[in-house]
Amino acid sequence: MPSDTRLYDIVLFGATGFTGELTAAYLARNAPADTRWALAGRNLDKLRALRERLAAIDPGCAKLALLCVEADDPAALREIAAASRVVATTVGPYVRYGGPLVAACAEAGTDYVDLCGEPEFVDRVYLDQHARAIETGARLVHACGFDSIPHDLGVLYTVGLLPSDVPIRVDGFVRASGMPSGGTFDSVLTAFSRSHEGERVHRARRAIEPAPTGRRVRIGGGPPRLDRTTRMWAVPLPTIDPQVVVRSAAALERYGPDFTYRHYAAVKHLPVALAGAVGLGALYTLARIPPAREHLLARRPPGTGPSPAARAKAWFRVLFVAETPTRRVVTEVAGGDPGYDETAKMLAESALSLAHDDLPLTAGQTTTAAALGQALISRLTAAGIAFRVVRDEARG
Ligand SMILES: NC(=O)c1ccc[n+]([C@@H]2O[C@H](COP(=O)([O-])OP(=O)(O)OC[C@H]3O[C@@H](n4cnc5c(N)ncnc54)[C@H](OP(=O)(O)O)[C@@H]3O)[C@@H](O)[C@H]2O)c1
Repeated sequence: MPSDTRLYDIVLFGATGFTGELTAAYLARNAPADTRWALAGRNLDKLRALRERLAAIDPGCAKLALLCVEADDPAALREIAAASRVVATTVGPYVRYGGPLVAACAEAGTDYVDLCGEPEFVDRVYLDQHARAIETGARLVHACGFDSIPHDLGVLYTVGLLPSDVPIRVDGFVRASGMPSGGTFDSVLTAFSRSHEGERVHRARRAIEPAPTGRRVRIGGGPPRLDRTTRMWAVPLPTIDPQVVVRSAAALERYGPDFTYRHYAAVKHLPVALAGAVGLGALYTLARIPPAREHLLARRPPGTGPSPAARAKAWFRVLFVAETPTRRVVTEVAGGDPGYDETAKMLAESALSLAHDDLPLTAGQTTTAAALGQALISRLTAAGIAFRVVRDEARG
């Protein structure tokens, strides 16, 4: 069915989960009245109860269609993919649940957005679905939450202030507060427990993914250091974010002939950074011991997450320091609760942008900067996430 004659503009899968419900509530408040959207999940009673809560926000939501489907039912997922122009999913860990849905979207030429920060899943989708999605025209956009929108779009915004014919190095410094939900905790522990599979799939991707011709894009590294611009300790942050940023740089000539991105946590005091590294190391080790992993997961069950009061106090700020041979530009992307309120906003606005905006022509596995770019920056700015220039100066 051609995409513009489909029944729905957006189907939200996982709508009954912690982040799913926040995303549904955001759509109830902010989707234009002509957006045809539907709620999908595995439990019809939970979907009905959610629809009632949404109808209290907007009475029009009382008529939302409810689609009951399991994440491992390819035939039912194919029906959903074929009925919608965009599918947004919060059903994670994605490496456990996400494969059949993204395959259905790639096959049906349906645009797909998720909250995946799991490199293994993203690499698997590249290997298994990218070529088919290019044939059908589906745009597969991962990491449409705090992983990795502030970083990906923050770098796009920053690079847009610089000439396109010179080497550019951007350093991203992340500061954030907030607590993880059960779903996020599960995804992190699952990724830690599968790090060897993740490395294998990443190598398989690197063996076949073409590099950009005539240009260089790369992730920079180095040990922790005291950064002179931020006057904070910069600790390399090996999340999915730098991978996403360099994929955008590979896709977009605008990032210039020689682009480097370095991604850091910015920490005021070195002992705090060291304690964080030790804590993460311990979590990594425990995640690889099944009984210890189960014990940890039981402490933060699926469907639970930080309270509204805790989310109201949470915040994020990412500072970007970009250097060319002659200029230094400092920019900032900042907002409220990174993990959930802002993530729900980012996922919903990404889906709305794919459904309604005039966007660059892309297909296959892509990134928020390459597929949504300025249109999504404008949407997020209007929705209260700040993108601003802090400083623009000559380099001596
Ligand atoms: N990138 C980011 O910045 C970011 C931020 C937040 C979350 N996330 C990711 O988003 C995902 C969801 O997190 P969350 O805290 O919202 O988790 P959650 O509350 O546990 O929600 C998971 C959702 O998946 C559904 N689900 C689970 N198994 C299913 C199955 N077999 N078939 C169909 N649906 C199934 C659940 O349905 P029921 O409601 O019926 O249980 C629920 O709706 C996680 O992977 C997390 O890492 C990423």
